[in-house]
Amino acid sequence: KSGVPDVRERTLIAVKPDGVQRRLVGQIIQRFEQRGFKLVGLKMLQVSDDLLSQHYCELRTKPFYPRLLEYMTSGPVVVMVWEGHKVVQASRTMVGHTNPLEAQAGTVRGDFSFHVSRNVVHASDSLEGAQREIQLWFQKKELLNWDCFDQILTC
Ligand code: TYD
Ligand code: MG
Repeated sequence: KSGVPDVRERTLIAVKPDGVQRRLVGQIIQRFEQRGFKLVGLKMLQVSDDLLSQHYCELRTKPFYPRLLEYMTSGPVVVMVWEGHKVVQASRTMVGHTNPLEAQAGTVRGDFSFHVSRNVVHASDSLEGAQREIQLWFQKKELLNWDCFDQILTC
């Protein structure tokens, strides 16, 4: 290892329907921007059952799964790909515990929600998960490479 940080790591972040309905999209994007991460993909869509069942395939047998699908299709979501050094781990910390009542203040869930079934945002939980989810939600041409003028930033 050269010791040079891998600034090309990517993760999938989605503002769930409650976040969109509550006008939280801007505040969530702002948190990732101010941390220094780079936005490389962004779109708004009404998610299909098919896409969701692939996205949440590991949760298929959980008792909350039917309600999760209902919630996630109750309105449009804003889905994004963010890039930067250790962005997967950092974004999980920024998003907070799955159950908002256990999420720290200062995290998205800790600041904006109080129930696990309306927890505002999704973040990939591992590098492999992120790669799988990014391929599922985005076409290659929808992800853009761009550089900063100031190389001190995370480009
Ligand atoms: P999970 O992947 O375990 O959490 P995270 O979003 O933090 O990665 O679960 C996916 C979503 O399923 C979670 O964000 C909200 C919903 N969910 C429930 O509704 N009830 C539950 O008990 C759990 C664990 C999750
Ligand atoms: Mg998860």
